[in-house]
Amino acid sequence: MAIVYFQPELRSVEVAQGTSILQAARLAGVMLESPCNCVGTCAKCTVRLDPESLKNIAINGLPALAWSDPEATEVLSCQATVLGDIRVELPTGEQTQTLQVLSHGERGPLDLDPCIRKTYEEAADETWVFALDRLLAKEPGDTRSTHFGMVVDIGTTTLVASLVDLSTGQEIAAASALNPQSRHAQDVLSRIRLASEEAGLNLLHGELIEEINRLTGELGAEAGIAAGSIYEMVLSGNTCMLHLATGQNPASLGKYPFAPSVSGGNHLCADRQGLTIASSGLVYLPPVISGFVGADITSGILATGLHRHGDTSLLVDIGTNGEMVLSRGGRLRATSTAAGPAFEGMNISCGMRASRGAVESFAIAQDGTVSMNTIGGAEATGICGSGLLDIAAELVEHGLIGGNGRLVEGGGSKLPSPLQERLVQREGKPAFLVTQELFLTQKDIRQVQLAKGAVRAGIECLLQDSGIAAAEVDRVLIAGAFGYHLREKSLLSLGLLPREFAGKIAFVGNTSQSGGQAFLLNRGVRDEMAAVVKEIEVIELANVPDFDKVFVRCLSF
Ligand code: FES
Repeated sequence: MAIVYFQPELRSVEVAQGTSILQAARLAGVMLESPCNCVGTCAKCTVRLDPESLKNIAINGLPALAWSDPEATEVLSCQATVLGDIRVELPTGEQTQTLQVLSHGERGPLDLDPCIRKTYEEAADETWVFALDRLLAKEPGDTRSTHFGMVVDIGTTTLVASLVDLSTGQEIAAASALNPQSRHAQDVLSRIRLASEEAGLNLLHGELIEEINRLTGELGAEAGIAAGSIYEMVLSGNTCMLHLATGQNPASLGKYPFAPSVSGGNHLCADRQGLTIASSGLVYLPPVISGFVGADITSGILATGLHRHGDTSLLVDIGTNGEMVLSRGGRLRATSTAAGPAFEGMNISCGMRASRGAVESFAIAQDGTVSMNTIGGAEATGICGSGLLDIAAELVEHGLIGGNGRLVEGGGSKLPSPLQERLVQREGKPAFLVTQELFLTQKDIRQVQLAKGAVRAGIECLLQDSGIAAAEVDRVLIAGAFGYHLREKSLLSLGLLPREFAGKIAFVGNTSQSGGQAFLLNRGVRDEMAAVVKEIEVIELANVPDFDKVFVRCLSF
């Protein structure tokens, strides 16, 4: 056995030899991110070891000192196994507490007609709680004034929860947290892989339920109400998240035809799901559109009224999985596209999540000087997705990145000198210095290119299938936390959206959350959306003839 000490948390744990440092951290209750699911590619699990500790680890089965530079003190905790006692220094700048979360989105007017209602039976001095016409519970006395519901938007990265007074329709408390699953696997595909095994499913399901219960307690404390007076919880999220929230194996989402086991549009018993609201409480899942177009998009359609407008509108949720719906003449077509983790700041040399210290916006002036903003106004410690798109867009606009995505080398005599000075070589490859410590490499630009190409190709296929040109789209609604922090100019400069969309773009925020509230507040929309979802035509990009050609065309800036 060996003892692993974690600093500065001052925690320690005894583990068997051969245990990875990452596993030891989990046993000690120390949070370390592992977004690539321990494949060894993301480097987000990096820790530092002192020289003595380095002697007591192995990497890929070989003692670290035989394997690596004896001066090196940073190791990937997922790849390093413990041979003897070690001291581990954790990365600073914990992201969980400061993660930037978008908790609200657009929502149209709605009649207050919740699924849960209460009636007071005077003769018996009891309050009867109904879900639709089903009697859920009888409570002593008149409890009509304590009548609450909750919505949890289960994002792949973050959870956003809100507590709503069902008598008034008002939100009375809101809270957010990191989705604990992202510590084990960052993106949807790695989560499907992990949860395909029973142990992985139990881990992801258990941690998610525990975190939702913690948020429930936090909201109740903030509003001064007991969790027992919350009678319904709406869980909105992508298809994989709804599987994991309900303990369903998502393996079918990982292979053709990607059919979901959870179709939504139904109620579950909260108690059986391990959720600590009223013991008779219910969980409602909005209808799922397909394996990769989830209930979050159904909520988005409801929140924006996309299905009710007669015009031609496009709803796009830009994230690791880009989901989009085109509404034309009352007919809805949807698709999804794998954009990869670049928009989350992952797989980028200096990338980080949207938390304190992340460069979130960037501009280059005519004289070549640069300006930028960081989240929280803190010293720049990394680049998040919106900053990444801004930097890439500015480099394209100022001729530092060519149409093929290549970063110019040697500066080029036409560039203002402040920009020339920022073009450097890193490990023999061209790179652009954002600050003295932060930079963008050619490889990073390729990641942006692949991500934006995937989203643009999805949009092009939807337009093509509808037989319309980009100029015929009347409104473009960008949903989601990431989209909310983007600038229209960057989206157009990069070609992530067609130039014809200029002036038609609106950022509608977290419509998964606002649509989830609409489901909570009005029972009538549940049937309405079930009917809408049934009629949505889902386009599988893999089946679109010439998709590869469309994608390659969409890669250029
Ligand atoms: S490199 Fe260790 S978790 Fe990704």
